[in-house]
Amino acid sequence: MKTRENLSSLILLFGATGDLAKRKLYPSLYNLFRKGNLSNRFAVVGVARRLKDDGEFRNWVRDSVTTFGEKADNLEEFISHFYYQSHDVNDSESYKQLKELVDRLDHTYQLEGNRIFYLAMSPEFFGTVAEHLREDGLTNTNGFKRLVIEKPFGHDLASAIELNKRIRSAFKEDEVYRIDHYLGKEMVQNIEVIRFANAIFEPLWNNRYISNIQVTSSETLGVEERARYYDKSGAIRDMVQNHMLQIVSLLAMEPPIRLTTDEIRSEKVKVLRALRPVEGEAVHDYFVRGQYGEGIMNGTKVPAYRDEPNVPKDSNTETFVAGKFLIDNFRWAGVPFYIRTGKRMATKSTNIIVQFKDIPMNLYYKNGSTLNPNLLVIHVQPDEGITLHLNVKKTGEVLGTTPVKLNFSTKSIDGINTPEAYEKLLYDCLRGDATNFTHWDEVALSWRFVDNISEVWTNEQADFPNYAAGSMGPKAAEELLEKDGFFWWPVNF
Ligand code: BG6
Repeated sequence: MKTRENLSSLILLFGATGDLAKRKLYPSLYNLFRKGNLSNRFAVVGVARRLKDDGEFRNWVRDSVTTFGEKADNLEEFISHFYYQSHDVNDSESYKQLKELVDRLDHTYQLEGNRIFYLAMSPEFFGTVAEHLREDGLTNTNGFKRLVIEKPFGHDLASAIELNKRIRSAFKEDEVYRIDHYLGKEMVQNIEVIRFANAIFEPLWNNRYISNIQVTSSETLGVEERARYYDKSGAIRDMVQNHMLQIVSLLAMEPPIRLTTDEIRSEKVKVLRALRPVEGEAVHDYFVRGQYGEGIMNGTKVPAYRDEPNVPKDSNTETFVAGKFLIDNFRWAGVPFYIRTGKRMATKSTNIIVQFKDIPMNLYYKNGSTLNPNLLVIHVQPDEGITLHLNVKKTGEVLGTTPVKLNFSTKSIDGINTPEAYEKLLYDCLRGDATNFTHWDEVALSWRFVDNISEVWTNEQADFPNYAAGSMGPKAAEELLEKDGFFWWPVNF
């Protein structure tokens, strides 16, 4: 049963001509509409500077959906809900015009004052826009008001606190939807289900049975056109502060007492509070940074990071991070959580490998059988599914063992493509479910952790580049695990 009628809202999209809107947001909204998850009572106001009028904007949206989305025959009906307003983010007059349009559409589409303000724009404007929305009356409404905000949420803890203050002057915490698109990924959402809906995993999910957990998110792309942002950010702010720490907190959290937003978030926050801080000299023991040099990818030579457009020739910015987190609580004491992420790596893949401890003794060693540890692999992308690695009898032999994999792939079962992360997150926001968005406490704790590492790295010139494009990162990332007696399992294992 669909709850279409409850989902009426006006969506005010700042950054309507940006890359994110074009690649992800319009196709995702269209999917919601196509599937009947978005009622006919919706309107989108695109706010930007580049276009002239509704007509041009609608062409833009049509082009986006036909290029990046799925096709169906009600596209024109969908597009008729789109309106355009040219806008200057610093000018109150602009917001007043916006308010007139919004009020008019509210009436035309019977939106009951429900408003979603989506900031898909440069983060330097987040605070200004939020304040203007309040001062110029746009947040003054009888319906719900929600602010959806893209990353980065600040550059460090201090700037995040400052930004949060400005945002909170206009929106309450439960009205702020901070996007971490990894939380919209099917298999990231599946972590909780795998853990809490299966009797065979949860009893083993602790330091008595798990030896280490490895989370890899490798990318093949380089910095692309984003050097102006990325060179000031680097992989630790771009990926670790948000996506990687979110995955770790979902893997490590205690079972929530119920599946409500507050209960789940509060368990995740506890994990972040239990993270052992890594500071000063210890940063060198727990974290490794890398920057890609030139290399060959798919048979083509690709440039070093420092030779990419808009990157300084002496850039000290890391494009790769590997690290070890320790979680100081009863469940996890002594179990390292290793993470690694980087650009221009050998393969595009995100996966989680839970390595169980060896059984107490190997009864099969006399026959030369080495037993592989049991592994639970959660494939987040590009494949989605889980693989369980077990040892079984080698057919035809008396004492021989052989490793086998039990495989589950969501694609082969469902037979359909799982919805894009953005489609799910937009739907959650329309429904008022903030579970898969980041709470301020999580943002603050993550920055506090990451700031200690950035501080050390910023003050020391690194010996970059230290990994070739197309490789799996610097050698030091291997050594990080070797010194603990482990190694990175291959990503497509
Ligand atoms: C973004 C980062 O948050 O995540 C990008 O800013 C990165 O640098 C991207 O490329 C990776 O997302 P995905 O979904 O492709 O793994």
